[in-house]
Amino acid sequence: MSGGKILLFGAAVAVSCLFLVQPARAQITDPSEVAALKAIRNKLSDPMNNLRTWSDGDPCSSNWKGVICFNSTLADGYLHVEELQLLKMNFSGSLAPEFGQLSYLKILDVMWNQISGSIPKEIGSIKSLKLLLLNGNQLSGPLPVELGYLPNLDRIQIDTNNISGPIPKSFALLNKTRHFHMNNNSLSGQIPPELSRLPSLVHLLLDNNNLTGFLPPELSRTPSLLILQLDNNNFSGASIPASYGGMAKLLKMSLRNCNLQGEVPDLSSIPQLGYLDLSQNQLTGNIPSNKLSNNITTIDLSSNSLTGPIPENFSRLPNLQRLSLENNHLIGSVPTAVWKSIVFTGNRTLLLDFQNNNLTNISTSLNPPANVSILLYGNPVCSNANQLNIEQYCQYQLINQSSGSSGNSKISCGPCPSDQGYEYNPLSPLSCFCSIPLEVGYRLKSPGFSNFLPYMDDFDGYLSSGLELALYQVFIDSFIWEEGPRLRMKLKLFPNNTNLFNDSEVLRIRGMFTGWLIPDSGIFGPYELLNFTLGFYSNVISRSGSRLSAGAVVGIVLASVALAVALSTLVTIFLMRRRFKYQAASKRRSISRIPIKVDGVKGFTFEEMALATNNFSSSSQVGQGGYGKVYRGILADGTVVAIKRALEGSLQGSREFFTEIELLSRLHHRNLVSLVGYCDEENEQMLVYEFMPNGTLRDHLSAKSKEALSFAMRLSIALGSARGILYLHTEADPPIFHRDIKASNILLDSRFVAKVADFGLSRLAPAPNIEGDLPGHVSTVVKGTPGYLDPEYFLTHKLTDKSDVYSLGVVFLELLTGRQPILHGKNIVREVTLAYQSGMIFSAIDSRMGSYPSDCVEKFISLALRCCQDETDSRPSMPEVVRELDILWRMTPETDTSPLESVVGGFKDAKAVPESSSLVETQPYVSSDVSGSNLISSVIPPITPR
Ligand SMILES: *[C@@H]1O[C@H](CO)[C@@H](O)[C@H](O)[C@H]1NC(C)=O
Ligand SMILES: *[C@@H]1O[C@H](CO)[C@@H](O)[C@H](O)[C@H]1NC(C)=O
Ligand SMILES: *[C@@H]1O[C@H](CO)[C@@H](O)[C@H](O)[C@H]1NC(C)=O
Ligand SMILES: *[C@@H]1O[C@H](CO)[C@@H](O)[C@H](O)[C@H]1NC(C)=O
Ligand SMILES: *[C@@H]1O[C@H](CO)[C@@H](O)[C@H](O)[C@H]1NC(C)=O
Repeated sequence: MSGGKILLFGAAVAVSCLFLVQPARAQITDPSEVAALKAIRNKLSDPMNNLRTWSDGDPCSSNWKGVICFNSTLADGYLHVEELQLLKMNFSGSLAPEFGQLSYLKILDVMWNQISGSIPKEIGSIKSLKLLLLNGNQLSGPLPVELGYLPNLDRIQIDTNNISGPIPKSFALLNKTRHFHMNNNSLSGQIPPELSRLPSLVHLLLDNNNLTGFLPPELSRTPSLLILQLDNNNFSGASIPASYGGMAKLLKMSLRNCNLQGEVPDLSSIPQLGYLDLSQNQLTGNIPSNKLSNNITTIDLSSNSLTGPIPENFSRLPNLQRLSLENNHLIGSVPTAVWKSIVFTGNRTLLLDFQNNNLTNISTSLNPPANVSILLYGNPVCSNANQLNIEQYCQYQLINQSSGSSGNSKISCGPCPSDQGYEYNPLSPLSCFCSIPLEVGYRLKSPGFSNFLPYMDDFDGYLSSGLELALYQVFIDSFIWEEGPRLRMKLKLFPNNTNLFNDSEVLRIRGMFTGWLIPDSGIFGPYELLNFTLGFYSNVISRSGSRLSAGAVVGIVLASVALAVALSTLVTIFLMRRRFKYQAASKRRSISRIPIKVDGVKGFTFEEMALATNNFSSSSQVGQGGYGKVYRGILADGTVVAIKRALEGSLQGSREFFTEIELLSRLHHRNLVSLVGYCDEENEQMLVYEFMPNGTLRDHLSAKSKEALSFAMRLSIALGSARGILYLHTEADPPIFHRDIKASNILLDSRFVAKVADFGLSRLAPAPNIEGDLPGHVSTVVKGTPGYLDPEYFLTHKLTDKSDVYSLGVVFLELLTGRQPILHGKNIVREVTLAYQSGMIFSAIDSRMGSYPSDCVEKFISLALRCCQDETDSRPSMPEVVRELDILWRMTPETDTSPLESVVGGFKDAKAVPESSSLVETQPYVSSDVSGSNLISSVIPPITPR
């Protein structure tokens, strides 16, 4: 029967939670457990003061903060601690050996804190333990052998820590363990073949460790295994055992970047295999021609040394979403029927990546449906692209990991009552129905698909039935692919046709998540709970004391700081059909937030922004970027500004937004576009910049521009851009790598001073994290604007300051030649290099530039080409680039430069280019770019994926 329970609720909100405790019953907690809890508390540092009132005595009869005690019907008459949940409460410190005294504990949950030190071996003596959840901390040292002696353990999650040493063989005794998550640590040594004896094991996640040795052939005998994920380990030269083709239940096999050799085994008899990733190994031989399971969504064999042709059988896979065979030595013809068995409805897409192989021909004409993307760049067949009519597939392309939201935009509704967190449920059958949702940070650790859109409805169905909610109560607010690949989501759970969840429902739903009571799903794989925001419902827990289980509760818990809102005032039905003034805004939820002040930049109201842009009218729109639209606005004081209005879901939450604004507000340089202000209201995020009347450099280089730029102007633009970027690298604190330098991100003010735009901004994009590190920060996913992207970064995912040097070099080549980085499939770097090597360089120079000093131009070209070297080390550093340009600028004959000296911040008092210059007809705007700006430009230390 159930004993006592201790629950420490960590509302993931940054609200400090005060725990109040009700009077106790006569029963007292087991004295040894009382002592143990004290010892546990003493080892934890508690910045949010969650454990403040834990004190001597009985946690159920004294004021131990955060303690919930349920009745105990145990024979010994004591209350016992059954659950200890310290989820995401900002604890540091270490785990006390006294955990071992809590011998009735079933759930031990300290996820997502900063706890360090080693895992106490005493935990291995808690025979009742079912869930051991230590993930997302900084635990180090080895895995205690004793953890193998937990006969009732269902789930062991120690992922995302710094655990080292081997996986103990004793873990093969974990007879009941279904989930084994040790990924993102530093485990080393051999995977014990004995793990194959685990009768219940379904998910074996050991990716991102330092495991070595061979892949145990015995693992194929693990009777229940669904997911085998071992990416980013180093099984030096081992091969994939042929026995793995006999894994009867396997749904997913991911062995990416494991230093594996040998051939791809025949996996065609795994009946439900849905996801296969063997990429980034040294696999050789032909791709097996036997047909894989109909369930397969993803086949990734890229970056190996595979030879032979692409088998016919890929065209018989009705669920295929992605076939990645790039960077191999495949020969023969381009398959022309892979999509044959796929029914493209709704959001179904298919990506076929065959780049950088030796495909030489194509049997019939390539005529795929619109939902199919084919990438052929780097194959010999592309040299005939024109004749074969496959030019569009031969261009160099990067694959963006997607993100998105359910974005179910609704007809306009009046605003929900603000302040308390009311929102529309976009899925509700009642239109404009306001209620307060629960927010859940949720991550699929190992999803079985590559494209989420076709599975979103299934996911809603899976989760709502798992939680016993109606379908429309579960709303996917946004999602983003992260390194792994993992899929992080923000979920909103809405009440069922009422304005509020009742207390027991809140507790029930939270318990479903934290107790891992939602049934497993094949295709969605295991999940992580990143946070569970009670928000408005924080006080529910305190009320629940008397309601939850009548007679059961001895003493309870928790009140939020901001509680004390009388319930009766809230139980009102808000059905509002009033038209809202700003139609677009009404699609978004309308909770106003208290604007946060950032020194040096102005906070604007939504109304001010709407006024400045004539209600965001299309005539005010001057550009479209990866984040949303760009408007020209006139502020009340007459200042002309450029307003970037973020698309819903394209920027991260409010806190990151302000961190970013704070960072940007500290950057001032004449060659950077400056931030004037921001708006963060009505759940809208906008950035307000100074307006650049002369538009982008790209416009001025295009054939459409009326008057061409002179050499001196081009040189001054190069020098100005380089100075701006040098400032970002050296003066910004922390340093900023731009990551998306391109001609359309270099703007020209009224005097043609070059100003770099969009720096730091892409940090605001929801960025996937580094494997295992700080969630939600830096991406190793390569994104960029084709033509400008550092090839070494593309290959190694290692971002350095030299990546910006490369992109800037491409801009220099554009300045010199006037042409675009990629034109008709031809890459500017290659073309100019060829011309340079054959001594024909002056034929490549933009003829519209007029006369120029040939020695300067030659030096400029040489500098530009050095910036565009493939190897990072061969490129000049940013300070060298600036220095050389500076020397060139001084060398340029006086007559050419004199009108421009002030532009370059020069030394003579010369006249600037006239204000009213009308060089271009195109609309000037702040950096418009359609695709590339999703780039994560960022403050980043060099990253090397493990
Ligand atoms: C409390 O005890 C009663 C029996 O005395 C039992 O039916 C009930 O389930 C217990 N409640 C809890 C929450 O353990
Ligand atoms: C695990 O199960 C096997 C077979 O069911 C049994 O022989 C073995 O004793 C069990 N081990 C433990 C530690 O319970
Ligand atoms: C991985 O193991 C190798 C040797 O086996 C060692 O040199 C290396 O430092 C280890 N790396 C990490 C991150 O532990
Ligand atoms: C595999 O496909 C079959 C037939 O379409 C389907 O019934 C089954 O649910 C699929 N399995 C998984 C794990 O998706
Ligand atoms: C939601 O509420 C409706 C009635 O308001 C009820 O019929 C339905 O069963 C409820 N669904 C769930 C999952 O609670």
